[in-house]
Amino acid sequence: MKRLVIVSNRVPVPKEGLRPGGLAVVLKDLLARQGGMWFGWNGTCHPDAAHLPPEHQQAEGVEYATIGLTPAEHRNYYTGFSNSTLWPLMHSLPEHIHFERRELETYWSVNQRFCENLLPLLRPDDIIWIHDYHLLPLPALLRRNGVRQPIGFFLHTPFPAPDMLATAPDGGTFLRDLLKADLLGFQTADDTANFIFAATRTAGAVPDGEDTLVFEGRTVRVGTFPVEIDPQAFARTAAAAADSQDLKRLSGSLAGRKLIFGVDRMDPTKGLDHRLAGYERMLETYPERERQVTFLQIAAESRTEVASYKALRRKLEHQIGKLNAHRGQADWTPLRFLTRGSPRPTVAGYMRLADIGYITPLRDGMNLVAKEFIAAQDPENPGVLILSRLAGAAKQLDAALLVNPLDHDGMADALEQALAMSAPEKRERWQACWNAIANRTALGWGLSFLKLLESTARK
Ligand code: G6P
Repeated sequence: MKRLVIVSNRVPVPKEGLRPGGLAVVLKDLLARQGGMWFGWNGTCHPDAAHLPPEHQQAEGVEYATIGLTPAEHRNYYTGFSNSTLWPLMHSLPEHIHFERRELETYWSVNQRFCENLLPLLRPDDIIWIHDYHLLPLPALLRRNGVRQPIGFFLHTPFPAPDMLATAPDGGTFLRDLLKADLLGFQTADDTANFIFAATRTAGAVPDGEDTLVFEGRTVRVGTFPVEIDPQAFARTAAAAADSQDLKRLSGSLAGRKLIFGVDRMDPTKGLDHRLAGYERMLETYPERERQVTFLQIAAESRTEVASYKALRRKLEHQIGKLNAHRGQADWTPLRFLTRGSPRPTVAGYMRLADIGYITPLRDGMNLVAKEFIAAQDPENPGVLILSRLAGAAKQLDAALLVNPLDHDGMADALEQALAMSAPEKRERWQACWNAIANRTALGWGLSFLKLLESTARK
């Protein structure tokens, strides 16, 4: 078997444990099975980082080779261009885009540094798989430095529509750089179509069949690979957590009220402010629901130096205070909002206990939480999933109650519909969602990408 080299911005080096965020969870399992190396940023910041060689670590059959960032790189490449420009751009949220040319320059130079540090570690029979929007220039940089090994690239975020892409400084260059990979993977068929459209219209790629482009004399495959979870394992974790002390405490504190549950990173794409507004609208429109429900939202802090994340935090703090002050009663707090992350098994248990999973991102590449919510349910007595129709997962979980994440009345009605739903309808909807994910795994997702990458690169 060829050695797999995964390259991503953040590497969950073993000592740190896993952070919330889909990418890390999925890839660790894949590398543990296939064996190989994970290369990227170790999460640290140091003034001398640019002059230090990669650090190596070995754990559970996986080699980790990581570099640090300097404070300026962290500011301009990570907080700046990656998360203040590209992230909102990929999610089609122009009002959150902040662009500085100097940040773009650092973005290029950090990609260059990734390339320089990776090159000496590569072996001739490696297969290289690059992940996400932080590393758009990397396929081209590697090729320019003589790398002939297969290169795959997977984008975990949505790929925006052409007009949105036009707001990307140097969008054409990014497209041409990506087209130096052998296989480009996207979460949904819409993302793939958006990419093909942009690549053919603005980068000069020529279509050669449905999923193939020819660019500068080379064949590039393009494909849709929705990221999956391990549903059976997650179901077992959730069922086991049901007996834990944490769950008993939460369940006791609900005093028989229905639990509405959401869990996300605190990120402007997640639609948290609108989600709270939808919940408040439900209490307003259906006042008989007062005291019958508790909404528990976990929103783990993330990318705290990005201006739009700071603004979101301030907005939410105001909104949470107002909602509980205006709607609460002496013995009832309508909303419990936690910014501290919880261990995965505990979250899985919360999901199983919940009557409603309330997951309404403004836009999301996939949203694995939605799939996890389905997997966590008790099949005899499942909860109802309310899901944004703008999450990639909605394409597969279309038996959930799909909502427009900006429509507060629509979300209020969906909450009411879920609260009033009969047990047979809940089971039917849950079963359809479960069927959509039950026979897929994160490993299967990774292996299908790698299989196509190898066969494309052989041609
Ligand atoms: C999303 C991105 C990942 C990223 C994760 C956590 O899932 O697609 O690439 O690693 O968020 O974000 P962070 O900025 O903490 O790495």
